[in-house]
Amino acid sequence: MHARARTVAILAVLVVLAAACGPGKSGASTAGAGGDGAGGDGAGGEARSLTIVHGAPVAAGSVPEHMSFAFNGYASAAGMRGNLTVVGTGIGVYEAAIDAVTALPIVGSEPDLASETGHVYALAAYDDGIVVAAENGLFFAKNGVLTRSGGHDVLHPLGLRGMTARIADEDADEDDKGSEETHLTLRTVNGLYELEPGELRAWTIADESGMPSAAFAQRDVLFAAWGSRLYEVDKAAGLAELIALELGDIHEIACATQACAPGTSLYFATDRGLVERSPAGEYTRYTLAAEGQPGVRVATFALDGKKSRLYAVTEAEGAPALVRIMAGALPEEVTPLDPSTMANASAADGEGNMWVFTGGTAKRFATGKPLGFASDIAPIFGEYCSTCHGEGIKGAPTIDYSDYDVMLSKANIALKRITDGSMPPPNNPPMPKEQAQLFVDWLATKAP
Ligand code: HEC
Repeated sequence: MHARARTVAILAVLVVLAAACGPGKSGASTAGAGGDGAGGDGAGGEARSLTIVHGAPVAAGSVPEHMSFAFNGYASAAGMRGNLTVVGTGIGVYEAAIDAVTALPIVGSEPDLASETGHVYALAAYDDGIVVAAENGLFFAKNGVLTRSGGHDVLHPLGLRGMTARIADEDADEDDKGSEETHLTLRTVNGLYELEPGELRAWTIADESGMPSAAFAQRDVLFAAWGSRLYEVDKAAGLAELIALELGDIHEIACATQACAPGTSLYFATDRGLVERSPAGEYTRYTLAAEGQPGVRVATFALDGKKSRLYAVTEAEGAPALVRIMAGALPEEVTPLDPSTMANASAADGEGNMWVFTGGTAKRFATGKPLGFASDIAPIFGEYCSTCHGEGIKGAPTIDYSDYDVMLSKANIALKRITDGSMPPPNNPPMPKEQAQLFVDWLATKAP
């Protein structure tokens, strides 16, 4: 049978740009005195700030139902794209479907095609499937099989060990989803690269060598960490700023949305907690532990791309948990995890259910109840807003928030008034943050 070749990218140009990276704008030197060193040129020369927030994740109501599935090997990476969720192990790649976890065979007619993937190092959403970086090659998972990726010849020799994907159309406005493209940040044994459509770029940062421990590139800014040393690289200027804050050792960087547009919050998984970078560039570290205790390690992130929800597995001693990340707040605990197992990878599926992969076990948690206007949003507005706006009482203009079309046309102004705290008016029960967050989440899909 003829297997259709699926290419990852046509690497038309191999551009190698060396980023001339100075020591950054501010050094925040530890040796007292001196104010803020030289280099205060340019506009945004303010010192970076770090806020530390203590406290365990907020407990959720009830634990979602779950099911377990077995697969071969030890989970090493997981990823999702659309309805496809896969896990890689030391020996192969498996698709996690609603009722089974099944091995994906390699197909293709290349004479030197490997019959096994070998160890799977990294997985990332790519185009309409998932790209797999493994010991024996670069593969592409889609339609129940693995084929060799078109990027294999160029990328595999780099020694790929980690990939982060951003799927966005950089040139068009946000409503135009027609030409989304994948932008990959690559961690390799030979250093840091970015794969943009048609172009592979190498980045080097002065004083750093070898593979970064984590990396994520937005459109204009590249974030790369070597352990506890995090850099924000202005891509156009080729300038790296060392973020001299006590963030912990960083091993993963993620966003709560697939496009991770400029101005989106970023999250860093560290050995001392969860670090959030606000759109304004302020850092907050949630230790996920009581004050005076060491921070809790965040093991892995998993993005539910459809609902723009970011989850993480945390590893509090004896009490690992699956948490949902909430912008500007402590994460919410979705479910405790079995204390005897360490989660090696996690991913959402097409329904928004969360999968946690440990040794040879996949657990699916039913977190994916779809968010809908009628089921989730209308009741919230009914409780907090329609008391006045439903019939235009207490001087409120009549706005029928129970009507889907009305909501669509009034959603932005409603959100604005909720976020700035002016609605409901003072002395009326405020819409809880959690409900407001659901509204924000729902706006990403606007499902009826
Ligand atoms: C206690 C009554 C009351 C409640 C409850 C209430 N509002 Fe209002 N709302 C008002 C009044 C009075 C005004 C007009 C004065 C103003 O603009 O602040 C108003 C104005 C607004 C406006 C501006 C409308 C326009 O056309 O300019 C929006 C939007 C709004 N409210 C949204 C909400 C939302 C969303 C909620 C629920 C989270 C809510 N309100 C809850 C009384 C209320």
